[in-house]
Amino acid sequence: MDLRLGRPDLAGVETDALVLLESEGSRRPELDKTLAAYYDSGEISGKLLEFTLLHGMAGYKARRVLVAGSGKPEKLDSAALRRIASGAVRFLKSKGVKSVVFALDGAAANTAAVAAVATGALAGNWEPDRLKTGKEPKKTIESFELAVREVSADVKSAFERGKVIGEALNLSRDISVEPPNLLTPVAMADRAREMTKGSGLSFEVLDRDRMKQLGMGALLGVAQGSAEPPALIVMQYKPEGAAPAVHLGLVGKGVTFDTGGISIKPAEGMEKMKYDMAGGAAVIGAMQAIAKLKPKIAVTGIVPAVENMPGSKAQRPGDIVTSLSGKTIEVLNTDAEGRLILIDAITYALQLGCTHLVDAATLTGAIAVALGFTSSGVFASDDTLLAKWMSAAKDAGEKMWHMPVDDEYREQLKTVYADIQNIGGRWGGACSAAAFLKEFTGETPWVHVDVAGTAWLDDEKPFLAKGPTGIPLGSFVNLAMDW
Ligand code: BES
Ligand code: ZN
Ligand code: ZN
Repeated sequence: MDLRLGRPDLAGVETDALVLLESEGSRRPELDKTLAAYYDSGEISGKLLEFTLLHGMAGYKARRVLVAGSGKPEKLDSAALRRIASGAVRFLKSKGVKSVVFALDGAAANTAAVAAVATGALAGNWEPDRLKTGKEPKKTIESFELAVREVSADVKSAFERGKVIGEALNLSRDISVEPPNLLTPVAMADRAREMTKGSGLSFEVLDRDRMKQLGMGALLGVAQGSAEPPALIVMQYKPEGAAPAVHLGLVGKGVTFDTGGISIKPAEGMEKMKYDMAGGAAVIGAMQAIAKLKPKIAVTGIVPAVENMPGSKAQRPGDIVTSLSGKTIEVLNTDAEGRLILIDAITYALQLGCTHLVDAATLTGAIAVALGFTSSGVFASDDTLLAKWMSAAKDAGEKMWHMPVDDEYREQLKTVYADIQNIGGRWGGACSAAAFLKEFTGETPWVHVDVAGTAWLDDEKPFLAKGPTGIPLGSFVNLAMDW
């Protein structure tokens, strides 16, 4: 999609569809006569995400006018605007529209709004249909102009930031949606390598031999059941003159398929475990955005990529592995594999000098039991980093809920045979999983984001296609940019 910023004359602009925002409750006095009639008859209410498509509107050269409800003015934040933009794109492309001009003026026209519309437009245009070979032409918006009154330097840079985040979200979703036969751990590393070419990021992949040499026994234990070799992906952004006290580490779970291993999962719904690498895909996308937007701090992205399979060489319940940290782990359930690969990646991040850590992982079904599919669960060892994270997430429109990771949860992980066991008891599974990770973060401020309930949409929404959501990529990027 060709995404542009401009200040066209709205009445005179020629386009397939001109999008005008209408808020709920207060009919604007300057409202066009035709529109006013729709409003007065109740056909247009201005409710959030209400779309009304009108042809031949007097006074406009646009072939269609889409009146997009923006809800109550006091509730119109950037998260809502992102949804309106993506919703408008999804609505219009389903009608065969190719070119769109989206008018942003009045109260909604601030820099955050500009960024949100740019991100939303790109996110709304994405579809999970790369592998469909049908003859019907794909429905997609080809050109989207964001129309504002003033193109100041601030507006331009907000637009650029929104665009870069939208593109990164779609890269991350492209990677997540790939089926597990195509997106193996090595293929995932190849996608990351491709992304870093010419980006200024440094890039490295640790293969099985190197991981053995280093002693990443926890990660290798998970990988050993699969014919697909593991890959530890490392992407680094180091700006000149970076604040020396901060080196942010982003770690994302990259299980390209999770069968559960020997503790195998039930057949029903197992195909969904192809998105068990969504945290890793969000890290790869975030690093692309970070390389373009150039925050002032150093950022390292790490993705442990493995496939969790029940082969004859697979690890068994009861195995005891030695992690990179030196701590031994009794593996009681091979389906609790995410935490095993993450802690070796976390220890590696600490060895690389990361001073602050955020990991994102489709870690537990329990987080979806606790929070459903709306909010990601956030666990933290440090209040300052937690506050930064929550604020970054709010601006990104990615809902987060703070969950506990008190020492009591650590009690569930005690075993006489090793330093720690990899599962807790029946209750509070997302919290004991977080407590397991915490054990390996030492004194380093750390935030863990469980995205098992939010990284994938089972049913499409008016503003988002079915499939991967890219969460928490926007929060990652905002955290680095607004540090
Ligand atoms: N990848 C799963 C978690 C998951 C579940 C992600 C549903 C997305 C949707 C993870 O590796 C897993 O299997 N966790 C187990 C942990 C248990 C064995 C302690 C779980 O949640 O059941
Ligand atoms: Zn699992
Ligand atoms: Zn998993």
